[in-house]
Amino acid sequence: MTMTETNSTSLHITPCEGLRGELGPAGNDTTVALPGDKSLSHRAALLAAMAEGESAIDNFLTAGVTQAMLNALTELGVKWQLQGQRLTVTGLGLQPGQAQKQPTIDCGNSATTLRLLAGALSAWNLSSQLDGSPGLRRRPMWRIVEPLQRMGVAIQAQDGCAPLTIEAGKRPLRAINYSLPVASAQVKSCLLLAGLAADGVTTLREPAPSRDHTERMLRLMGVEVRSDGRGVTRISPPERALQALRMSLAGDMSAAAFLIVAALITPGSQLLLRQVGLNPGRTGLLEVLQRMGGQIDITHTSDQSGEPVGDILVQSSDLQGVQVAGEVVVRMIDEFPIFAVAAAYAQGETRVSDAAELKLKESDRIVQLCTELTGLGVPIQPTGDGFIVQGGRPVIGGRGRSHGDHRLAMALVVAGLASQKPVVVEDAQIISESFPGFHKVLSALGAEISLESGK
Ligand code: S3P
Repeated sequence: MTMTETNSTSLHITPCEGLRGELGPAGNDTTVALPGDKSLSHRAALLAAMAEGESAIDNFLTAGVTQAMLNALTELGVKWQLQGQRLTVTGLGLQPGQAQKQPTIDCGNSATTLRLLAGALSAWNLSSQLDGSPGLRRRPMWRIVEPLQRMGVAIQAQDGCAPLTIEAGKRPLRAINYSLPVASAQVKSCLLLAGLAADGVTTLREPAPSRDHTERMLRLMGVEVRSDGRGVTRISPPERALQALRMSLAGDMSAAAFLIVAALITPGSQLLLRQVGLNPGRTGLLEVLQRMGGQIDITHTSDQSGEPVGDILVQSSDLQGVQVAGEVVVRMIDEFPIFAVAAAYAQGETRVSDAAELKLKESDRIVQLCTELTGLGVPIQPTGDGFIVQGGRPVIGGRGRSHGDHRLAMALVVAGLASQKPVVVEDAQIISESFPGFHKVLSALGAEISLESGK
């Protein structure tokens, strides 16, 4: 879905009698398809473009935000091909030479595309302008511009936001020792990519460790990246070209999260999700749901192309309210919309704090989440850095809308699976940014969802 498409889709969800089935990577006839990981897909496409030779990436996520990355790579002259879920990319290497001035690159709705590309363009030493949808223009970019400027990159923002302009300049870049004001895998990854072209070891310190997908993938490609597991990451500029990737991506934990909570709150449910990514920077929701009494069993754990994966068996459960604060917040940062739905169906109070970053996501996920769930009859109050839910009262149902936020839309859909009356989610087309066919997946598992399109 791009910013020019105006078709509006509403989803009508009728409370259902349980979700049952098995999900796994696309292409297996016996399971319902669970999308490949969004974070890994962005990184694999971009790092393959920075490698030398041909990369092949299986279980790639084909969705709005990853298409934004592929379109950007096309603008930069990168050759790639998608066949089903297999992406092949012919890399430019680390020194593609001074290309002619690039046109503005449209990053669509994808902050990951914009922030990671800023790092890659810095390493490649290419001049360009990075821009995107009105929603993307509202996202904070000063957090990458300031440290990139310290490294010697000629990069400018407009009032701290996109469009960003980057001018080619002197290389190598300065290696920096930098403390990130907020834990952010996007900022860290941007700076790691710029660090590939630095004159020494770049050291990055986060207040709490965020997902380390970029680090793991760079190691697969032969780059020395060290992490202390407590938020300090060091990258040494490589002496050789990055090796091309041959990998299969894990299933997306942040997509699985909606199905896991759907099964927990809908009586009579049992779902098995196979080969889901279990990167410790992404498993915060599972830990918190287990603390709430959620019956979630993890089996068949293994390593898949440098990332931990496993199978997740989940059954409907009686949940209890919980407190969420501190380091776990960053490890479930994308999961708060669906977590709030779990809290609404849990007995007692749930309190989230230390989560002010939620205001800076695809929507203000404190204000809009509280507004929309209140509209469905959930007693939820915003706070300065989170929210408080009085759970266990019946969720009534009604109308909600996405506010241009794919995860808010999916959370509202799930809320309607166990509510007293139906739920209608307006502007739900935005879901295709990260999980195309979400309603079809739920329907295949037993949900009753119908779709209405209009202009
Ligand atoms: C992402 C990191 C997180 C997350 C986003 C994907 C990534 O953003 O919210 O959906 O792929 O690195 P921040 O780094 O802004 O926390």
